Amino acid sequence: MPLADIDTPALLLDRDRLERNIARMASYFEGRPASLRPHYKTPKCPEVARLQLEAGAIGITCAKLGEAETLAQAGVAASILIANQIVGAPKLRRLVDLAPRFPELIVAVDHPAQIEALDAALAGGSARVGALVECDTGMHRCGSAEPDRTVELAKQLHASRVEYRGIMGYEGHAVLIPEADKRESAARDALAALESHYRALVDSGLEPEIVSGGGTGTHDITGDAPFVTEIQAGSYVFMDGAYRKVRPEFECALVLRTSVLHVRGRLLITDCGLKSLSQDMGMPEGAELPLRCVALSEEHAFVVTDEDADLDLEVGDRIDLLPSHGDTTINMHEQYLVRRGDTLEATWAIAARGKFR
Ligand SMILES: Cc1ncc(COP(=O)(O)O)c(C=O)c1O
Repeated sequence: MPLADIDTPALLLDRDRLERNIARMASYFEGRPASLRPHYKTPKCPEVARLQLEAGAIGITCAKLGEAETLAQAGVAASILIANQIVGAPKLRRLVDLAPRFPELIVAVDHPAQIEALDAALAGGSARVGALVECDTGMHRCGSAEPDRTVELAKQLHASRVEYRGIMGYEGHAVLIPEADKRESAARDALAALESHYRALVDSGLEPEIVSGGGTGTHDITGDAPFVTEIQAGSYVFMDGAYRKVRPEFECALVLRTSVLHVRGRLLITDCGLKSLSQDMGMPEGAELPLRCVALSEEHAFVVTDEDADLDLEVGDRIDLLPSHGDTTINMHEQYLVRRGDTLEATWAIAARGKFR
């Protein structure tokens, strides 16, 4: 189908840019001690995960059990890290059922009660589940903040049916800092915190096999630390309006194509709104054209053209907007329309959209 005929609003994925992003990140990790375990919370699409694995990723990071289930359904047999705590009987049952579908399945823990519940869920069965102790390295979301506590949790894991595999610490407070020196300084502080947990474990005879962390904005800082074994970067595959200011060497591969419904001077009303485009990280911008989205209602975007731009757009014209936050926008769509140049090459299901359980 020619690109001009696609219906809107639609997520258009530029395959050449996607492949260059995957190759660029993979090449950073070539020959390094640390490896890449890309985060699936961005693409939510098995085809993208396969491309990342083919390019050398050692496994996939997921945010949710439901995301990992879509990889199993698609037959992606990779090492999986669910970088979150799995809490509650319904999820524990799903976790135990899912474990045999992958060569290894690892989750995060940061409380004795989680380990007790995981241990009980594994009793009497043959499923194997590994765990990393999550460390709070400054983001103050989940995680053990004190190395002594991390050692206690590792000991508890060691004595349980859950396999103790190591630690993780994601420096989410640092990854999006636009100024390179401030980002590096925040990431180095987070690394120092993570290293204190690592050293305490080594001193206790519980050397971590896996030390996981890092995001797109810090992959070459955290990924350069000698004690870190893997990086969980996710956003680099597509990039978005927020991230492109931080790491411009990766290309924006994903846009939302929208149609102009109404024109009033410099104001365009287009057919995408809050149900197809997120605004949690700010307003979308024109991907190529000098346009600014100034407001979104449920089904409409209010887009203004730059004062000195002579765009002369009309009803029915298509424009491409760059989502400010890819992850939350993608979660609202069923598919990517994959383009190669001007040709629509494929349709890829966003299998893990809405899989927030
Ligand atoms: C635990 C964890 N690891 C890694 C990432 C990936 O980060 P980025 O989007 O900076 O690539 C995220 C992002 O939310 C995350 O929550």
